[in-house]
Amino acid sequence: MATTFLPPGTSDITPEEIPQWRFVENAASRIFQLYGYLEMRTPVMEFTELFQRGIGDETDVVKKEMYSFEDKGGRGLTLRPEGTAGIMRSFAGTDVMNGNERRVFYMGPMFRGEKPAAGRKRQFHQIGVENAGGVSTLADAESMAMLAQYLDEIGITGYSLLINTRGSFEDRIAAEVLLREKLSKRSNELCDDCKERLGRNVWRVIDCKNPNCSAIVDELPDITDSFSAESRSYFEEVRGHLDKMGLEYTVDSKLVRGLDYYAHTVFEVTHSGLGAQNSLAGGGRYEVPVPGSKRPVPGVGFALGVERLLMARESLGAENPHLRKLDVYMISLGAAAVDANVIMSMTLRKAGISTVVCGGDKSMKGQMRAANRLSARFALIRGDQELERGVVVCKNMETSEQREIPEGEILEFDFRTRR
Ligand code: HAM
Repeated sequence: MATTFLPPGTSDITPEEIPQWRFVENAASRIFQLYGYLEMRTPVMEFTELFQRGIGDETDVVKKEMYSFEDKGGRGLTLRPEGTAGIMRSFAGTDVMNGNERRVFYMGPMFRGEKPAAGRKRQFHQIGVENAGGVSTLADAESMAMLAQYLDEIGITGYSLLINTRGSFEDRIAAEVLLREKLSKRSNELCDDCKERLGRNVWRVIDCKNPNCSAIVDELPDITDSFSAESRSYFEEVRGHLDKMGLEYTVDSKLVRGLDYYAHTVFEVTHSGLGAQNSLAGGGRYEVPVPGSKRPVPGVGFALGVERLLMARESLGAENPHLRKLDVYMISLGAAAVDANVIMSMTLRKAGISTVVCGGDKSMKGQMRAANRLSARFALIRGDQELERGVVVCKNMETSEQREIPEGEILEFDFRTRR
């Protein structure tokens, strides 16, 4: 398909690709429901303020990547860069704020103005879950277990689950001072981006991929050691649950995640089949500040990038479900046959047999070619002679075998499973 007139970082999802999308989406819906999650849909467009407050003004997503605009009424709107803030907006002020859980999952397009690369798009798709109001170490561990079960279900092997703690918001303020103090001493050795991050978002220095920055960070004391005893024991408890559940994971003290709403547990799944953009899924515990709500909305969740899921499956040579073929293509020779075929096509479709009738004035050869192009399993052919005799010629497009079927017996033929 032509891609020349597409904005960079966007793409079509073609009919040939849809079966893979449906496969991963249907599996998500099935597995997440096993854990009590129900599907929810929020608008693609939200007030810009929701993301500024929710994700954090100083994050890369809000500062550099959002598609924000003013509508004709002068309202500041943004195409959602992620799903969590919108879901939490919908639960603000409800009983979720008192610890009553709402477990929801969602799927759909997200928008971030990042530099397009393999696995990095400007319109991409996420499958995500949020356990809003679910405030317990078990909820954290269970959402990772659910993620692992989902990946197993769709045949993704060889992934790594990385976990870390960001401590409480209070711990973070103290740790930030400490980090800034240590890193400022070596600021001239940091990359230009990190020099800027030192002032506004010092946590991002920790996961900078630049080898110099990374070496400096390696020499820092483990920042989680400075967290309160409560925060450290919270993390121990989460790990205890993961161990009981038999989940394999690696504690990565450099995992900080790029969104400001996280507190305590954070996690990410990476996959080697993805190249440089190796994050397949990310999530954690959060408290999302929502405009109009006195208190932030707590919860735990994660999101997977669908494009990256499909890349990982491809790298593993996973088998893809096939496109469902068209059952019947109706070939009409002459105007009377067109009329008769239109009526028969309605009967066939009502019986669940997918049917296309050639509408134009094409030759037999042209119609046969069209049937092949649509990968039809059978062609039903009628001209004046067949109409007179009350029969239809049925051609198996795979074997080229032909037979006549009396018009009145058309529904007795098994178009769906017959070869
Ligand atoms: P995130 O880590 O920003 O987290 O994104 C989650 C996943 O979305 C990534 O692991 C990646 O697979 C995919 N993704 C992100 N950006 C792109 C892109 N430009 N192109 C292609 N795929 C991309 C969140 O969005 C959080 N809301 C997750 C969460 C839910 N945390 C708690 N609940």
